Amino acid sequence: MKIDLNATLREHNTFGFDVKAHILSYLTESSDIPEFVKQAQESQQEWRIIGGGSNLVLASDLKGMTGLMQILGRRLLKETATHHYVEAMAGESWHELVAWCLEQGYAGLENLALIPGTVGAAPIQNIGAYGLELAQVLDSLLAYDTQKNTWVTLTRDECHFSYRDSLFKQEPNRLIVASITLDLPKKWVPNLSYAELKNAFANQSNITPRDIFERVCAIRRSKLPDPKLIGNAGSFFHNPVVNDSIYQKLKSRFPDLVAYSTYPTTQTNQTTQTIPHWKLAAGWLIDQCGLKGYRQGSVGVYEKQALVLVNHGGGTGKELLHLAKTIQDRVQEKFGVALTIEPVILNQ
Ligand code: EPU
Repeated sequence: MKIDLNATLREHNTFGFDVKAHILSYLTESSDIPEFVKQAQESQQEWRIIGGGSNLVLASDLKGMTGLMQILGRRLLKETATHHYVEAMAGESWHELVAWCLEQGYAGLENLALIPGTVGAAPIQNIGAYGLELAQVLDSLLAYDTQKNTWVTLTRDECHFSYRDSLFKQEPNRLIVASITLDLPKKWVPNLSYAELKNAFANQSNITPRDIFERVCAIRRSKLPDPKLIGNAGSFFHNPVVNDSIYQKLKSRFPDLVAYSTYPTTQTNQTTQTIPHWKLAAGWLIDQCGLKGYRQGSVGVYEKQALVLVNHGGGTGKELLHLAKTIQDRVQEKFGVALTIEPVILNQ
C-alpha cells in the first residue's frame, strides 16, 4: 500500500480546495482495506476514506489517516433469463461505469449518467437524478465492517436507503464499501418519470437507452458546472420536505412555489400511514432570495443553478461554509424553511 505524507488533496476533491492529508494511503486492492483499518486502529489515529471527492467539503487539513479509494474492476457477474448483474469495484468512476454498461448492452443506468464521483461513493448518499436513485438498481454490496473487523454483504434493504441518505451516512466510518452489484432487468422501459425528460421525448417513439443517456448528459451539461473547469460538488443542499400544512401556507404566500408531492411512509401503532408531504425545490428558494450568481470572495452561487455552490478559484472550505450559512439564513428569513447541507463536511 503506497503512502504519501502531507499530501495535498487538491486533485482529490471537486471543489479543488488545497488542504493536506497528514497520511494519505492509496487503496488499490481489496486487501488494502483491512490493512489500512488495522494500521489506524493500532496507532489509534482518526481515519476516513475518500473517493472522487465529489461530495465533500474539506474545511481544513486532515489529521491521522486518509484512505484514497482506487480499487478498480467491473464485470458481468451473473446473467439470468431476465437480468444482468454487474459488479463494480469502489474506485471505478461512476459515469464510466454507466457508459460501459450501455456499450455492453446492460441498460438501466442511463438516467444516472454524468454524476461525478466513484462507485464506492454512490451508495453513501444514494445518488439520484432524473427519476432514478441508486437504491432502485442496487442488488447488494460488499463492505468491510470496521467494528467487527470482517467482510459483510449487505442487501439493498440492509443499506437503509432514502433520499440522499443511507446507513453509511448515518453511521460514518463503520463500513467501507469495496464493491457493488447492480441488478439490471433485461426488459428495458425508458424511465421518463422526471418531467424534463418526459417533455424532451414527448414527440418521439422507439426511444433507446442511448437516447436517454445523451439527453441526460446534455441537460446536466446545460445546468451543472463541470468540476474540471469550476470547482463544485453538485447540489449543495437537500430539497427540503415539508408537511401539507406548511406547503399550503407557503403556496398561498408564494403562488409560484416549485414543489413536488412525495409520500413518506410513517409507522404508527403497527399500521402504515401515508401522509402527503411536499419536496420544495431548494434551487428555487435560493433563486427567489436573489442569490443566483451571488459571490462572497472566491466562492459563490452558480449563475445557472442556485442549488450549486462553486469555488471560482483560490477559495477555501471555510469560506464556502460561511457562504452556505448566509444562504441558509436568507432562506429561513424569507420562507421559514431550513436548508440542510448535502455533502459530507470534513474537519469543520
Ligand atoms: N429552480 C429555480 N432556480 C434555480 C434552480 C432550480 O427556479 O436556480 C427550480 C426550477 O423550477 C426547476 C426546479 O427548481 O425546475 C428543480 O430544479 P432541477 O430540475 O435542476 O433539480 P433540483 O431539484 O435542483 C435535483 C437533484 C440533482 C439532480 C436533479 C435532477 C437534489 C438535492 N438535487 O436538483 O442532484 O441532478 O434534481 O434529478 O436532490 C446532486 O445531488 O448533486 C444533484 C445535482
